Amino acid sequence: MNDNKVDVLLGLQWGDEGKGKVVDFLSEKYDVIARFHGGANAGHTLKIGNLTHVLHLIPSGIFHSDKLNIIGSGVVIDPYIFKHECDDLHNLSVKFEDRLLIAKRAHLILPTHRMLDAVYESSKGANKIGSTLKGIGPAYTDKVARLGLRVGDIKDEAFQSKYEALKKQHLDIAKSYGFDCCSFRIENMTLEEYEKEWLAAIEYLKSLQLIDCECYINHLLDEGKTVLAEGAQGTMLDVDFGTYPFVTSSSSISSGVCLGLGVPPNRIGKIFGIAKAYCTRVGAGPFPTEQDNETGEMLRLKGGEYGATTGRPRRCGWIDLVQLKYSIMINGVTDLIITKPDVLNQFDTIKACTSYYLYGKQLIDYPYSLMLDGLVPHYDQIEGWKTDLSAAGGYIGLPKNFKNYLSFIEDYLKTKINVISVGPDRKETIFIE
Ligand code: GDP
Ligand code: IMO
Ligand code: MG
Repeated sequence: MNDNKVDVLLGLQWGDEGKGKVVDFLSEKYDVIARFHGGANAGHTLKIGNLTHVLHLIPSGIFHSDKLNIIGSGVVIDPYIFKHECDDLHNLSVKFEDRLLIAKRAHLILPTHRMLDAVYESSKGANKIGSTLKGIGPAYTDKVARLGLRVGDIKDEAFQSKYEALKKQHLDIAKSYGFDCCSFRIENMTLEEYEKEWLAAIEYLKSLQLIDCECYINHLLDEGKTVLAEGAQGTMLDVDFGTYPFVTSSSSISSGVCLGLGVPPNRIGKIFGIAKAYCTRVGAGPFPTEQDNETGEMLRLKGGEYGATTGRPRRCGWIDLVQLKYSIMINGVTDLIITKPDVLNQFDTIKACTSYYLYGKQLIDYPYSLMLDGLVPHYDQIEGWKTDLSAAGGYIGLPKNFKNYLSFIEDYLKTKINVISVGPDRKETIFIE
């Protein structure tokens, strides 16, 4: 038996670190790319030549015609969104049916899960999480409550009646909140219209390859195949270790790979942690280094910081090394990947948060909550490089000040930076040997 392990790539901040771009790039080295958690709240952007494509559920290895792509057990799938994504690939003449596999244990997002997301968000008033409203939270809630429907159920004769029963429960909940289900719209459709499309998409799903993901992946590893697990969201959105309650409802950290794919901990290999050279967040919740000022505006403008799923402007701020150190600890990151430093090309000086102070006292460990009155980030300043990084060609050609900036991060985080992404295209990537 082979002792191959699953390598993992995951976000170290609040999502949108550039995972899609880097997974697409790293896919060359792997046989299989597998999503292990989350759903269509993710928006992973790939730029390949003139094509810019945003993937929500389908793994970012799909544009490599010789790679298997798996949607793992830990993912929650809205068949309507999934079918649309598949249609988009058909329109691009990407053939994928024989190399896209879906775990039977993955849970389904029902149309009424999406409605419940809206019910719960509107009931929160000023404390809204800023959910993408894709039904993620309610679907995971039903999973844990042992009420959910799974992909493996769709071929079952009792599927329709189970669906109707769960739908009724959801409608009753909505009613108890006084929610007006009749005027509710999803994708500009009434609930009934959306349901029709959703049921048609279930038929499409039946035509694809549904697998027992845990056995399938372990067999692939036994055969010597290489697997890359693709994270969604980011560590600070993890349901356990993120900035709760302003988080998503799944495990976006490295241990989530075991749960989401069915591989044991001793079959996890490298853990690539990916971080932006600055920091962004979409939706509500604490963000100590946020720059709600001209600097933040400049980062948003230069970095094109608008949500790939919802189009919302992302909140922007400086890199937070205290937060990154915590993420590296939680995930056991072995290799660090830095993206989007090119967005900082024009800055005279760059700031990096190197400690938190609470009422004048430096914090030693990462706090339980970041929503503390009196929490103040302390910054170190690094001289900017004021050069176009994409013109560097390779590591040797990178400006000295940029190398200093990388060393500063490595020294603080005690983790080696192996890859730098200096632009959205596959080609704009520099490996550090
Ligand atoms: P993901 O959710 O982690 O896959 O990230 P998103 O796709 O939501 O957001 C990252 C954005 O930055 C996308 O528009 C990418 O095309 C873009 N991007 C990725 N890497 C780089 C980079 O190194 N430089 C620049 N300028 N843009 C990048
Ligand atoms: P990718 O994979 C950035 C955020 C939402 C909201 C919170 C909960 O592209 O990095 P949910 O829809 O899960 O109920 O939203 O999490 N969020 C993301 N932010 N990138 C993502 O995914 C996100 N997925 C969810 O904005 O604040
Ligand atoms: Mg994204």
